[in-house]
Amino acid sequence: MEVVRTISDVRQRVSAARREGKRVGFVPTMGYLHEGHLSLVDLCRERAEYCVVSIFVNPTQFGPGEDYERYPRDPERDRRLLEERGVDLVFAPEVGEMYPEEPLVRFRIEKLADHLCGPRRTGHFPGVLLVVAKLFHIVQPDVAVFGQKDFQQLLIIRRMVRDLNFPVEIVAGPTVREPDGLAMSSRNAYLSPEERARATVLYRSLQRAKALIEGGERSARSVIGAMRAMIEGTPGVHIDYIEIVDLEELRPVERLEGRVAIALAVYVGPARLIDNLVLEIRGDDVREIPAL
Ligand code: PAF
Repeated sequence: MEVVRTISDVRQRVSAARREGKRVGFVPTMGYLHEGHLSLVDLCRERAEYCVVSIFVNPTQFGPGEDYERYPRDPERDRRLLEERGVDLVFAPEVGEMYPEEPLVRFRIEKLADHLCGPRRTGHFPGVLLVVAKLFHIVQPDVAVFGQKDFQQLLIIRRMVRDLNFPVEIVAGPTVREPDGLAMSSRNAYLSPEERARATVLYRSLQRAKALIEGGERSARSVIGAMRAMIEGTPGVHIDYIEIVDLEELRPVERLEGRVAIALAVYVGPARLIDNLVLEIRGDDVREIPAL
């Protein structure tokens, strides 16, 4: 495994792999890797013979006052984990390599960013698209893998790929959870042991929602109300949003039918954590499905 820091080094290594007839897979990350990221690497390696991982804490997707500066970083550990997992190339650029000057071309996202994290973190998804588009141009992967935990990001990226004709297949990896259900996230590192225990309320509230729907509840408002009551009963935790949206335009639904995502963002101490559950509801049949 090689670690490179410049765009020209990535291009050179990827071109060489292509000349050998290898399919190129890509997993973009912000580092501080956990088993969730590594499961995306596994998917990448199943689909491609040459696997590239980027590690870059992208400043353009953080708003003022967000955690860009304190975002956890451990490049040496990341390098070791990726090597053990059979990655071929790590691209770990400095900010100046990705943004040598202030970017004057930005993304605006219609509809898909109107709800969930979009209005609460304005600038976040345009910043994600900016860096992902740049990384796609740099790496030129055949396939790129993203986690379903960031399911709004996943759907927005898939749409960018369609709208802008990027020749890349987007693959989604399922959310990887701790044994008690907490979705793995680099931001879990911010939690004290007490907060870590409280953070399981996100998953528990999603399970409660699923149980209500399986029991026949079809009102989104009632399900959200039950989740809200459960989370508000947990000290030291406060809700940013809980929404149930359709999977096409990510707009809130009233009646639970067809393919829907139940998504929430909750502050637990200093950490803003997100999680979701994607369900297909047909008559009495309720099943968990992948977002893509
Ligand atoms: O999901 C993330 O870690 C980031 O948003 C991504 C896709 C690597 C872009 O910086």
